[in-house]
Amino acid sequence: MKRYRIAALPGDGIGPDVTREALLVLEAAGERFGFRCDVREALIGGCAIDILREPLPGGTLEICLDSDAVLMGAVGGPKWDALPGAQRPEAGLLRIRSELKLFANLRPAIVFGPLRSASPLKEALLGDGLDLLIVRELTGGIYFGPRGRGGDGDETIAYDTEQYKKSEIVRIGRVAFEAARKRSKRLCSVDKANVLESSRLWRETMNALAGDYPDVALSHLYVDNAAMQLVCAPRQFDTIVTSNLFGDILSDEASQIAGSIGMLPSASLGAGTLGLYEPVHGAAPDIAGKDVANPLAAILSAGMMLRHSLGETEAADAVEAAVAAVIDDGFRTIDIAKDGRSAIGTRAMGQRVREALAT
Ligand code: IPM
Ligand code: MG
Repeated sequence: MKRYRIAALPGDGIGPDVTREALLVLEAAGERFGFRCDVREALIGGCAIDILREPLPGGTLEICLDSDAVLMGAVGGPKWDALPGAQRPEAGLLRIRSELKLFANLRPAIVFGPLRSASPLKEALLGDGLDLLIVRELTGGIYFGPRGRGGDGDETIAYDTEQYKKSEIVRIGRVAFEAARKRSKRLCSVDKANVLESSRLWRETMNALAGDYPDVALSHLYVDNAAMQLVCAPRQFDTIVTSNLFGDILSDEASQIAGSIGMLPSASLGAGTLGLYEPVHGAAPDIAGKDVANPLAAILSAGMMLRHSLGETEAADAVEAAVAAVIDDGFRTIDIAKDGRSAIGTRAMGQRVREALAT
């Protein structure tokens, strides 16, 4: 029997609620498809700060580096909001991305047909559903550029720097072209090349790469226009590639179009097969431990892990099909129960997915 080493980092808030369901689904997938996941849990974020006084303890990093894949829940919460930047839970997340060299963040935004009514967009704009993929650069740009503060009083100045090396743009570009190639072969690169020098390099580099992918149609949009187009004509998009900051913003926007951020998984990948998988949603501390959080984003993240890190394509397809079946059967957690249906809890939703997976 094949065995995989999985690092589970449930984190804060609803992170543990949804990660538990995702792990149970992984186990069920293993039973059906003949593999075992040896799961080791570790701390990240606020819970790590509370116990070990740092958001990404060395032991956690070691376990991750010694695993085939990392499944994360969520980090953060008001309890740690007053801490200085480098000690906040979010710093742990940024560090793990950078330490594991996960430069490519895949954020699919899918509107399942039956959930169209949960989207704030008019159903006419969504046609028979929506399926777009945002490929966000994850270890460069303004998140990691030179930063600092100087001066004092009214003259205090603070700065962060958006900068990209050509090689960083090439490697994220290649991931995006490859992804677009497997989808509808349309790639839209989003930048701010009318203003920013770093965006001009971005655009030039994407155009140069396009020569290697003659089967993919590359287009460009400025980020302000892209934000607008996403809400007025979302179906024009298939694969979007963009910088760390623009991708952060556009992926939240896309998540709302999809109806609930509780539905959206993500994968963070590097040059090898080690990847980190996490729902796009945050820790939502107000509903933590109440058995109401939607576990589907975490479960779909486990699905992405099966596909991208473990090479268990059939199991990945089956997990996605199980989620779609449960939605088709009308089961809803409270965040997606917009059409007057009654809602089920986190555990019951996980259970339904496992049942669908077993049949
Ligand atoms: C995300 C989050 C993170 C980011 C935060 C929590 C650091 O918003 O994954 O989109 O900005 O990357
Ligand atoms: Mg974000």
